[in-house]
Amino acid sequence: MPFLPHFSLKAHWSTNGFLVLSWIMISCSGTVSPLHAPPAGQRLRSAFSATQTNSVVGDKHKAMTFNRLVENIGGDFNPDTGHFRCRIPGAYYFSFSVGKFPKKMLSVILVKNGQEVQAMAYDDYRKRGRKVQSQSVMIHLKEKDTVWLLLQQSPQYALYSNAGPYITFSGYLIYPEIPSSTYISNHLSQVGLSYPYCPPQADSHAQGQASEPPRSAFSVARTSTLMGQSSRQQSKAPISFDVEYVNIGGHFNKTSGRFTCRFPGAYFFAFTVGKHPRKAVSVKLMTGEGEVQAMVYDEDTSKRREMQSQSLLLSLRRGDSVWLYSQQDERFAVYSNQGRYTTFSGFLVYPEAEPLTPPAKTDRTYF
Ligand SMILES: *[C@@H]1O[C@H](CO)[C@@H](O)[C@H](O)[C@H]1NC(C)=O
Repeated sequence: MPFLPHFSLKAHWSTNGFLVLSWIMISCSGTVSPLHAPPAGQRLRSAFSATQTNSVVGDKHKAMTFNRLVENIGGDFNPDTGHFRCRIPGAYYFSFSVGKFPKKMLSVILVKNGQEVQAMAYDDYRKRGRKVQSQSVMIHLKEKDTVWLLLQQSPQYALYSNAGPYITFSGYLIYPEIPSSTYISNHLSQVGLSYPYCPPQADSHAQGQASEPPRSAFSVARTSTLMGQSSRQQSKAPISFDVEYVNIGGHFNKTSGRFTCRFPGAYFFAFTVGKHPRKAVSVKLMTGEGEVQAMVYDEDTSKRREMQSQSLLLSLRRGDSVWLYSQQDERFAVYSNQGRYTTFSGFLVYPEAEPLTPPAKTDRTYF
């Protein structure tokens, strides 16, 4: 019976005297049959995390592959090919870390469908030291879109790892794409196709739009360098961005560089910045009137380029503003180019428990 999970029934008395029955899953091999589909609300799940314990030299490999699968909810990631194949359309957060091999350069790019360059980790410091570089970005995927890590195909490049391991790749679905109720009523069959395990919600009209939990997420990148300029200006001007991967709800203004909270709750923020040759890096995650919440710093003014990453969970009220500030001083800069080294992402993890007001029509931008 390779397709059925095997269970054993255990009964025991808990300390407060109630009989506790617990199903212990002994083994579950093969694919899950529809009979054992997870309960409603748990169906739209996709998450993976994989690691590689061997170093990789850049001449023969194209996609980063992984020899240890830590988690693979939904089974959308193939560690042997290194490919994540989207099953549930939606907004996904990807993050990866790679080790720099001594005396080699490092370059890893997150690609979608083998073409689009999304974001990269880079380090051209050919010294002996080992270190780790990270990158993260949120992107929108359609069904069958494929995401993987592209290695630079030159022996000058290598990634270092060991049993540690230094090389990790993770991704998970933040917001599944939910067609609006209008869309459901107009295109029933198409919706059914998009969600094979999720029957069309015939009652979504009756429930109304207020039943949809609030959504807020952005992920942006810069394709140019920002040089620090000494000025007496007191305002801590935000770093602006020119590439928008996702902006669900439209709460991030890439021109001003500011995220404005519309739904109170707990938000996760992550950013990565490139270090400019001959310049130092000092970038702060700011809120309110200029309160520093977290920062990255690298005072090495050598000609090497590398990256620094940071992340934080913040509790925000409606109207709160979050942005990145790069030290305004000639000694500092944030490096970027078409490789999109410099990225900034944030998303609502848990909305504050409160009677939810239906979001205004203009807020409901689904990709
Ligand atoms: C975004 O910010 C820019 C610069 O501050 C401003 O001119 C523009 O009106 C803002 N856009 C929106 C939609 O608020």
